[in-house]
Amino acid sequence: MRIVLLGPPGAGKGTQAAVLSREYKIPHISTGDILREAVKSGAGIGLAAAAFMGKGELVPDKIVTAMVIERMGKTDAEKGFILDGFPRTLNQARELDEAMNKIPSKVDVVIYFETSSKTVINRLSGRRVCKTCGFNYHVKNIPPKEDGVCDKCDGVLFQRPDDKEGTVINRLEVYEAETKPLVDYYAKQGILRKVSGDMGVDDLFSVIFKIFAEEKLA
Ligand code: AP5
Repeated sequence: MRIVLLGPPGAGKGTQAAVLSREYKIPHISTGDILREAVKSGAGIGLAAAAFMGKGELVPDKIVTAMVIERMGKTDAEKGFILDGFPRTLNQARELDEAMNKIPSKVDVVIYFETSSKTVINRLSGRRVCKTCGFNYHVKNIPPKEDGVCDKCDGVLFQRPDDKEGTVINRLEVYEAETKPLVDYYAKQGILRKVSGDMGVDDLFSVIFKIFAEEKLA
């Protein structure tokens, strides 16, 4: 089961990927998470990536593609994976196709989270993330039991620096210019399935689950 989740920032890709990964026992590969880890560790790649991420720009294709291809090659990804936040440019999509052809394999389905700007702005401005375990909350939609504290590990919740207003606007512009063209790219391959990112977490999961069943992936 090789899945790509595509959609604007804040559409809920990471939230669904975490649930799907648990349900289908395949790894959730998030380029955003991998890059944030690299930034935290102060590694060379992290230093290069930090400047782009802080401004809401895309990290250069070469860096990101190499990271993803290395991650996809690990044994836990042999039976499949969920790609969240990759590919994000036509160049990345073509490189992914090439890498899959070599295995040989292919992406089975691309779930496109069609999401209104109102939802996206609301989700990003309210997102809070646990500093310790990385679990995602939302101040209104998915609040923790205790304000500012993670339900799972008691870690401190914080706002991602790129979720601040000025950066969000740039991320949305970058999405429209660089990533939205992938909708056509995958529609032409006949593997794009649209869902509404405006739905609640459980309803959206049910819709995706049904798609996987229709595609005979589950
Ligand atoms: P990345 O971390 O990938 O950010 P993103 O794509 O902008 O996506 P988000 O994590 O913001 O949103 P999401 O769709 O996962 O939503 P979530 O589930 O968290 O990338 C960050 C940066 O890294 C990029 O700007 C770039 O610099 C760099 N980068 C990453 N990948 C790259 C690549 N391939 N190439 C180049 N550069 C790259 O949900 C959002 C909020 O809403 C949460 O609070 C959640 O609790 C809540 N929520 C989720 N679903 C629902 C729902 N259904 N109903 C109500 N609330 C919900």
